[in-house]
Amino acid sequence: MENKLEKIVSLCKRRGFVFQGSEIYGGLSGVWDYGPLGSEFAHNIKELWWDHFVRSREDMFGISSGILMPESVWKASGHMEDFADPLVECKKCKKRFRQDELDEKKSKCPECGGELSEPRQFNMMFETNGLYLRPEIAQGMFVNFKNVLDTMRPKLPFGIAQIGRAFRNEISPRDFLFRVREFDLMEFEYFVNESDWKENFENWRKEMWVWIEKAGINKTMVNELEVAKNDRAHYSKRTIDFEFDFPFGKKELYGLAYRGDYDLSRHTEHSKVDLKYSDPVSGEKFIPHVIEPTFGLGRTILAVLLSAYYEDELGGEKRIVLRFNPQIAPVKIAVFPLVKNKENVVSKAREIFVTLKKKFGAVDFDDNGNIGKRYRRQDEIGTPWCVTVDYQTLEDDTVTIRDRDTGEQIRHLVNELENYFAEKLA
Ligand code: GAP
Repeated sequence: MENKLEKIVSLCKRRGFVFQGSEIYGGLSGVWDYGPLGSEFAHNIKELWWDHFVRSREDMFGISSGILMPESVWKASGHMEDFADPLVECKKCKKRFRQDELDEKKSKCPECGGELSEPRQFNMMFETNGLYLRPEIAQGMFVNFKNVLDTMRPKLPFGIAQIGRAFRNEISPRDFLFRVREFDLMEFEYFVNESDWKENFENWRKEMWVWIEKAGINKTMVNELEVAKNDRAHYSKRTIDFEFDFPFGKKELYGLAYRGDYDLSRHTEHSKVDLKYSDPVSGEKFIPHVIEPTFGLGRTILAVLLSAYYEDELGGEKRIVLRFNPQIAPVKIAVFPLVKNKENVVSKAREIFVTLKKKFGAVDFDDNGNIGKRYRRQDEIGTPWCVTVDYQTLEDDTVTIRDRDTGEQIRHLVNELENYFAEKLA
């Protein structure tokens, strides 16, 4: 299984999905850069998430808040005090470790066997000139609670959602995109009447499974874990982790937390601004409670890659294939001229490519090497369909469409291609 992760890291680099941050300067630990295919892929996942949880619903309001927030926010949220991991340092090689991640031989350095220091609580927030790079995006939703109330006049229950970057000074970043120092989060705070929290918690629990399936994450590799009180974040009254069976162990993919009225009460107290909701029927004023489903984008990408990666044989040839859900595939369609040196075949292929690109955006043109090699290259990046223009095209205006998963080829009229793919991608 470890091997599968190495293969995916290598594929990601080779095909332009993910590169080590600042690679030409030796690489920066805990930072990964998304290349042309990776950023398209990430963009598609964010788009799908936003469509699913925000645009298609009447009770969700999207925002995009600042990455920099002042100390006062983090004092109120409890992050100044509680957002810390136990750090131990090797007295010999000076390497740092998270004490809770070391195995039984806790007293010795796992790298050089040296003696380890006593643990100290290490706060993971990045400070910059008295401001902080947000370690979670949730506070952006809480500090804008009143703004959304005043401008949109929502009725309970309703949610405030955002997608954005968070920064954490992880003691030991590791496992590719799993534990990094900056990452995108897709998250919402769902505000409810206290008496309804259990029902809403259960509802979002089910909805998270719907998303898992929609994103193309293998459900059989996901399990729920009820997080024990001692292991929960300081703000949470109940947490369920959605764990994924990563090659390095079952680890948190997503989280679902019941934050009670902790955040809005703390911000009311610290900012002295009234953050109560006023019930339009009863006139009762109260601080709503919060259910928070949270989705890390990098971990989603890694789980989707691990779910979609296959090595199989098609037509007697070995191949690597990423069986992505077409909606999130970074390239939707690849167009090939069967031959490179016949001008009318090439110009017809270019014409089809330009039309499809205008409509679908993520379309490739490839005239390099034999057709088999071109299929292999597209399979490896998860392109669902390849369109080939051949001599017959010039006679009857049809092309072949080849399916990534089955290898099946059908002939289709050129002027019906747009509809064909639009339907497939709907
Ligand atoms: N607002 C709640 C919150 O931030 P969290 O469990 O600390 O909760 C949310 O983080 C999600 O962010 C996690 O479920 C995980 O998907 C992702 N995540 C957390 N730390 C990460 C890291 N160092 N690298 C990559 N993703 C991370």
